[in-house]
Amino acid sequence: MKVAVLYGGVSGEREVSLSTGKGIIQALKNKGHEVIGIDFDPSKIEQLIHLKVDLVFIGLHGRFGEDGRIQGLLDMLDIPYVGSGVLSSALAMDKAKSKQIFATNDIPTALSQSYQVNRYENRSVIAAEVKASFTTPFVVKPNQEGSTLGLTIVKEESQIDKAIEIAAASDTVILVEEYVGGREVTVPVVGKQGEETALPVIEIIPKSDYYDFDSKYKPGGSEHIVPAKVSDELTEQLQNYAVQAHQLLGCSVYSRVDFIINENNIPIILEVNTLPGMTPTSLFPDSAQVVGLSYDDLVEQFVTLSLP
Ligand code: DAL
Ligand code: MG
Repeated sequence: MKVAVLYGGVSGEREVSLSTGKGIIQALKNKGHEVIGIDFDPSKIEQLIHLKVDLVFIGLHGRFGEDGRIQGLLDMLDIPYVGSGVLSSALAMDKAKSKQIFATNDIPTALSQSYQVNRYENRSVIAAEVKASFTTPFVVKPNQEGSTLGLTIVKEESQIDKAIEIAAASDTVILVEEYVGGREVTVPVVGKQGEETALPVIEIIPKSDYYDFDSKYKPGGSEHIVPAKVSDELTEQLQNYAVQAHQLLGCSVYSRVDFIINENNIPIILEVNTLPGMTPTSLFPDSAQVVGLSYDDLVEQFVTLSLP
C-alpha cells in the first residue's frame, strides 16, 4: 500500500512528532508498504494531492495535527487517514469541552474553570478571579496543548501572573484546574468503532516532580510500569472509563486516555489523546508490547483498522 506519513508540523509538539514520524515510517517500511514521509505544513498540500496515496498516517501532534483541522482537509480531499475524525479530534483537543462531556457522563474529572484570555483587557482581572475560586496548589495550562507544554503547577499565589502568562502564550483559552495528587496512569484504547478494547494500564513514575516534557521524552526520564500495580478492580474501572471516554468523543482506531488515581483510589480523567506519542520513550507501544504486539505490528493494526 502507498502510505504518506505526515509528521513534524508547526505545533509546539513538533519535536515529539519528528520522533513519532520516524518510528511510524520505519514500521510501515518494515511491513512492506511504500512510504512517503512529509514534514507537513500548508505548502505541502499540493505534493500530498499529487502523490495519490492509499492512506495517510497522521504522525502529527497538537495544533493543526491532532485538533481536527488536518482531518477536515483530508476529508475534503477524499484521502483516507488513520485515526479519529474532525469532531472527535477537535473535542479531545479542547480540554474544557471534553471534560464537560466526561463529567456529564459520570467519569470523574478535576474541578476546573476556563478563561478566554483575549476577552480580558487586563490579565490581573483573571488572576483575581482565579485567586477567588481556587486554593493552591492548582494547575494552569493552555486549553489546547499537549506534552504538558505551557503548564504550571501553582504552589503559591505569587506564581499566578507568571503561570497565566506562560499558558496564554500558546492559547487564547487557559484552563485552571484543582491539583489532583496521586498516581499517574494512562490507558491505550484500540479497535473498530463500537468494539474498542483497552490495552494494559501503564503507571508512570517520572524522575522529576511530575510527568513534564523532559520526563516524557528524555530516555530514562521516567519509568513505565506495565501492567500498573493496581488492583484488578481498579484496572477494570480505568479500562472501562478509557473506552467510555474514547467512545463518548466518537474517536476512531486508537487513543490514549490519561488519568490520576487520587488518594481515595478514584481515577480522575485528565484527557484523551487522539494522536498519542509513538516515540521510542512513548507509552502506547510499551503497553502493546506486554500483550505481544510489537511496535511494527501495532502500527500495522492501526492501518488495517483504518481501511474503508
Ligand atoms: N501529546 C503527546 C504526544 C502524547 O500524549 O503522547
Ligand atoms: Mg496530551
